[in-house]
Amino acid sequence: MAQYDVIIIGAGPGGYVSAIRCAQLGLKTAIVEGRETLGGTCLNVGCIPSKALLHATHQLHEAEHNFAAMGLKGKSPSVDWKQMKSYKDEVIGQNTGGIEFLMKKNKVTWIKGWASIPAAGKVQVGDEVHEAKNIVIASGSVPSSLPGVEVDEKVVVTSTGALELPKIPKKMVVIGAGVIGLELGSVYARLGTDVTVVEYLDAVCPGMDKDVQRGFKRILEKQGLKFIMGAAVQGVDATKTKAKVRYQPKAGGDEVTLDTDVVLVATGRKPYTDGLGLETLGVKLTQRGQVETNDKWATSVPGIYAIGDAIEGPMLAHKAEDEGMAVAEVIAGKHGHVNYGVIPGVVYTTPEVATVGATEDALKAEGRKVKVGKFMFMGNARAKAVHQAEGGFVKIITDKETDRILGAAIIGPGAGDMIHELCVAMEFGASAEDIALTCHAHPTYSEAVREAALACGDGAIHS
Ligand code: NAI
Repeated sequence: MAQYDVIIIGAGPGGYVSAIRCAQLGLKTAIVEGRETLGGTCLNVGCIPSKALLHATHQLHEAEHNFAAMGLKGKSPSVDWKQMKSYKDEVIGQNTGGIEFLMKKNKVTWIKGWASIPAAGKVQVGDEVHEAKNIVIASGSVPSSLPGVEVDEKVVVTSTGALELPKIPKKMVVIGAGVIGLELGSVYARLGTDVTVVEYLDAVCPGMDKDVQRGFKRILEKQGLKFIMGAAVQGVDATKTKAKVRYQPKAGGDEVTLDTDVVLVATGRKPYTDGLGLETLGVKLTQRGQVETNDKWATSVPGIYAIGDAIEGPMLAHKAEDEGMAVAEVIAGKHGHVNYGVIPGVVYTTPEVATVGATEDALKAEGRKVKVGKFMFMGNARAKAVHQAEGGFVKIITDKETDRILGAAIIGPGAGDMIHELCVAMEFGASAEDIALTCHAHPTYSEAVREAALACGDGAIHS
């Protein structure tokens, strides 16, 4: 029987990052993964393939809408959908292969198959039982179901099926205006699909700053996405080739039916812990089915830890990675730490949307006195040059008395990368003035961050 210091269950971003850190810290480590390739949802059917399709379709959008104005004349490219999916698969392969290389390089054993935990200190895969002083559950999440909606991954699809549609549909109804719905909705809208997003709430991207929600929705509408807000989907009636989506307007009135070719169900994800045997072990779950952990990611059973989408908090790959590293340090007797107040969130549409820290609304609701500095990308020369200035902005929220940065949001080109300047500033407890006094290269998108910081003080220059 093989014996390890740590066995990690699940090789998504949380699990594989944790495995590498455990190995770096001198722990004998194995990782259990049942998929054919490593990388979990993120690399195989989530973040990475969707970014490949977002990139390809962004190029198409540029060719169709902006090339002629820049003097690039001629026929727009036609779409070879099969080739676009092959390109996406190649990107997946490069990345999952890269993780396999990293496992070998760090001498982490990949135990292939699906794990269960028959007892603390034991992990069963197939007929074999492996021993481990510590077990880390990093089993991730799966799309949550919606009553009255049966997913067949052909006509009624989750994000997984949406990456593999046999042909580009004429019509698509997206249920849920969250991150998945808007990213994949954008992909298909750019491919010429008539996309209608049906959302229960009155705003897109629940939990985001209201300013951002409004601005983002306007930008997406200009790109051709249609929105039906305040609409609770009641059910979907599907045949082999078509579907009818039934929704109830929250404002009242009769149920409405939408005819479509494909329905994308993007109404959230739920922790995936099936088959692990947690109930028998006595590992406590929260009411929402998440594995309950303390501030050191320990579950209610000694020697068993949990991280990532399987536990509380935002379901984000980078949050799982941070927890993966931190739990490895805890197991190695060090002081693992994650600052949950500074976890960025990014939507990879064009323009991108990125947020970090508290929202203006949440701080005001708490009775905090805040100052807001906002700068529109219309005043940023570089953003104008790439046709991404319209509607975008950087917003920084500070404590009115101390000027300390409490939160920030960006809609604009490269927002997902630019947000990290603000993350670092927040980690260092910086004030808006610290950013305002930092020289920013010209012409860059990042100048907009400095301008928003200046707007928290005596005023932005270019607005
Ligand atoms: P979400 O929780 O972000 O959004 C789901 C939306 O569906 C909500 O706005 C909700 O009000 C709506 N909804 C629920 N039931 C409904 C009904 N019956 N009728 C109409 N609307 C309904 O979930 P999503 O987009 O599926 O994403 C799941 C998770 O994956 C999230 O935690 C997200 O953060 C993560 N993710 C992150 C990405 C990123 O960081 N770029 C990319 C993709 C996913």
